[in-house]
Amino acid sequence: MSHPGHRVQPPTQSVTLREKEGGGASSQSVHLSSVENPAVATSPGVAASGVLAALSRALDLTEGQPLGHSMRACLIGMRLGQELGLGEEDLAALYYALLLKDAGCSSNAARMASIFGSDDQVIKPRMKVVDWDDRMQLAVATWRSSGQGRSLGDRMRHFLGIARQEHLTRDLIATRCERGADIARRLGFPEGTVEAIRSLDEHWNGQGHPEGKRGDEIPLLARILNIAQTAEVFWVTQGPDATQAMLLERRGRWFDPRLTNIVLGWMHDLTFWGQVSSLEIESHVVSLEPAKWVRHVDEAGLDEIAQAFADIIDAKSSFTYRHSSQVAMYAGAIMEALGTRPADVVLTRRAGLLHDIGKVGISSRILDKTGALDAEERAAMQRHPEFTLEILQNVSVFSEFARRAALHHEKLDGTGYPWGVGADELDRTARALAVADIYEALTADRPYRAGMPVGRALGILESEKGTKLDAEAVDTLAGLVTEGEVPLAL
Ligand SMILES: [Fe+2]
Ligand SMILES: [Fe+2]
Repeated sequence: MSHPGHRVQPPTQSVTLREKEGGGASSQSVHLSSVENPAVATSPGVAASGVLAALSRALDLTEGQPLGHSMRACLIGMRLGQELGLGEEDLAALYYALLLKDAGCSSNAARMASIFGSDDQVIKPRMKVVDWDDRMQLAVATWRSSGQGRSLGDRMRHFLGIARQEHLTRDLIATRCERGADIARRLGFPEGTVEAIRSLDEHWNGQGHPEGKRGDEIPLLARILNIAQTAEVFWVTQGPDATQAMLLERRGRWFDPRLTNIVLGWMHDLTFWGQVSSLEIESHVVSLEPAKWVRHVDEAGLDEIAQAFADIIDAKSSFTYRHSSQVAMYAGAIMEALGTRPADVVLTRRAGLLHDIGKVGISSRILDKTGALDAEERAAMQRHPEFTLEILQNVSVFSEFARRAALHHEKLDGTGYPWGVGADELDRTARALAVADIYEALTADRPYRAGMPVGRALGILESEKGTKLDAEAVDTLAGLVTEGEVPLAL
């Protein structure tokens, strides 16, 4: 059920991703709608490379890949670009495409989990090593991934359901690639980056997806992304011999033969592969950003990145459409009404956008389960704030609110999760987020039920006021909602 409500209109802001060319600095402005940000000022901004490299861990988690997958693929892809003699502008486009290549990965997770009847984080990495051209190999991998842990009949039902959907792989990939390309475009990255992400899974022999492009029809940057990500997965999970065998096997089928020969030439370069496997990978990746095209992101740009990742989080489950954006809006409004200084309002909104980023590490099978969770599933679900903390504290510009964002399920009386901390450790931001999170979850529509009426939702908050939930935050939100300062629910 939706309520029209009144809404404080968010202004349109200019997001500036500055490109430094030569000695001077040129500016590229992208106008995007974003949450009001009084802290937007004249600060020179931070390098986008560091922010995106650190956030790429969230994309790895969504793909079920070992953390650092995107950064390792970035190292491989950038070496390939350099050896091919790409110009600085193309290298810059390639660099961001490598870091953001999986930005659309959350958008097909729920469907995959539902069709396979298994955990998406188990299916996705398995499907990443399968040679789709080999129908037998594909059938075996599909069977192994269907209805895991279920009865034989259930497994067969899922397997046959998949087999009957002629264009399933293409559809799943199309969703993912379109969504990823869209996010890169919204963040103001060049068309070369956008196209590379869109065509990431095209294969040299025309058997790839979503369009079945062949050979040189596939953008060169997309061909680099494809071989870089596949080589990375094999190197990390199966070792050098399997990587070499895979490259020989797929040369001229999956991969551009010229690119394959270059990567095969590095097989004995232990220094390079040592760097790829290094724990210091993030600093290597940051140092690879083409110097003449370093992109800086200012305060408004950080809001845009936070919003893009909020959309990635919300796309992970079919139940959480706009949850993160709404929590950010409610929590920010509470802080503003309490007279908090503008910088803390901005911080709270960003914390709201990213509070559930750890959910990308939770199986969509659990996130989308309509019935009650069993003990094991509940324990897995309750780990998501730990993942939120882990991801955000590694992003220097977001580390200031990492812990506060991760505390959104904690309660004043210590009965929350996952740490069970009490009032002493919960500041205003954490308290506002906790209230906003519950209110949004109660009032938002879900595919299987309408949102709860506002009065009842406020009644539930009221019943926990002062014991589990902060009284000031509850009263403030109730006041804002009833006065129409924020939407009742969307
Ligand atoms: Fe949460
Ligand atoms: Fe939440």
